[in-house]
Amino acid sequence: MQEKFIIKGKQKLDGTLSVSGTKNEALKVIPACLLTQEKCVAKNIPDIVDVRAMLDILKDIGADVKKIEDHHFEITCGKSITNKLPEAKVAAQRASIMLVGPLLARFGEVSFPHPGGCVIGKRPIDLFLEFYKQMGVSIAVHDSHYQMSVDKLQGIDYIFPRVSVTGTESLILAGCLAEGETIIRNAAMEPEIEALAEILNDAGAKIIGAGTPTISIKGVAKLNGFNAVMLPDRIECGTFAIMGVATNSHLKIENCRPDHLGILWSHLEKMGAKFKLSEDSVEILPTDKPLKAQDIHTHEYPGFVTDLQAPFTVLLTQTTGMSLVHETIYEGRLFYVDALNTMGGKIIMCDPHRVVFDGPMHLYGRKVVSPDIRAGIALVIAAMIAEGDSEISNVHLIDRGYENIEERLKAVGAEIERVSIC
Ligand code: EPU
Repeated sequence: MQEKFIIKGKQKLDGTLSVSGTKNEALKVIPACLLTQEKCVAKNIPDIVDVRAMLDILKDIGADVKKIEDHHFEITCGKSITNKLPEAKVAAQRASIMLVGPLLARFGEVSFPHPGGCVIGKRPIDLFLEFYKQMGVSIAVHDSHYQMSVDKLQGIDYIFPRVSVTGTESLILAGCLAEGETIIRNAAMEPEIEALAEILNDAGAKIIGAGTPTISIKGVAKLNGFNAVMLPDRIECGTFAIMGVATNSHLKIENCRPDHLGILWSHLEKMGAKFKLSEDSVEILPTDKPLKAQDIHTHEYPGFVTDLQAPFTVLLTQTTGMSLVHETIYEGRLFYVDALNTMGGKIIMCDPHRVVFDGPMHLYGRKVVSPDIRAGIALVIAAMIAEGDSEISNVHLIDRGYENIEERLKAVGAEIERVSIC
């Protein structure tokens, strides 16, 4: 069923939002359960579409997935596991590439379709193919389908030609049970990678250096079960903070790790936003002073995270002066500015990676379509600051990343309704 959000314009929020567990850690910890036959416990798992889809894939291949209570699962990948992945579900999600390493370690064979998702999810997997080949895997490609086989994964010394988050995490999982040592150079350094390595080390893996550009993994014969608690989602925390500043609201954000978002706070400070940080909370305060324009360049962690680029761009439309937004990670992550321009924005796209504009801009409520998770929530923020009501369709894409979003926003005073489209 298709759904849309109807959002009232010119809103002010007031209250406290609590941050969920992180999607991009849960989507790696769930496949990691395949590395052991013992029971794995996963807590603070967000109840969102992408995570439910990953749990479903595990069930389909024979895992025992028990929901103990909300956000708390026990997953056992015992002897009943097979390597017959459900094609359509795997093709629908980019993160399903994370299943490949553990299945190769377990069965020496796996067949899967090109993993996709939304517009930006359908990106290349050449780096994965390159390091699996070096680990001794034979790969046959038929149309957009991959057939892989290996006797035993071999440790390698691999330098990523470009930084890849899921690539780094996949090579960590594959290296855990490989023969010998795997060294990853030019590794991604996201906090979720360090967290994943800690979980695996608790289960008996030998990983050193996660969170730095060089990671070493000494292969072991077997892993034990683990007990994991997901980090708070830094993207959700940043999104709520940006929403608070953009609507000039008083918003408290709890259960978060502000230290995982350093550069966001630095930009907000330069902009003139008022906020207070503690170890596990953020308080956004209203201000009567105009906010100053900024240039942002997305970058791998600890740089400006691409997943906050769209919400931050919406905020920049309300600041005074010229802003440049340079999206260095993705080709297709700026096309949502068409929707902002439909709402009255005057954003100039220089090329697929850069937009410039002179703010502040007056936005008007319009009917727009959410193109992906992060652009979708950015349009929700745009609708909240626009004049008049907006309708945002393709809400299922927003649901991929944010749990029960409209109810949580309503609790801080937002006027947002989910409506079915017949
Ligand atoms: N790339 C290649 N070849 C590859 C792998 C990646 O060309 O084999 C390119 C991609 O096309 C992209 C860049 O390298 O242009 C970086 O991609 P990366 O592999 O780092 O992205 P990812 O690991 O697939 C994760 C998050 C994304 C987040 C990026 C960047 C998960 C499940 N996804 O994706 O999250 O944007 O890192 O930080 O962890 C989101 O949550 O909305 C989201 C898209």
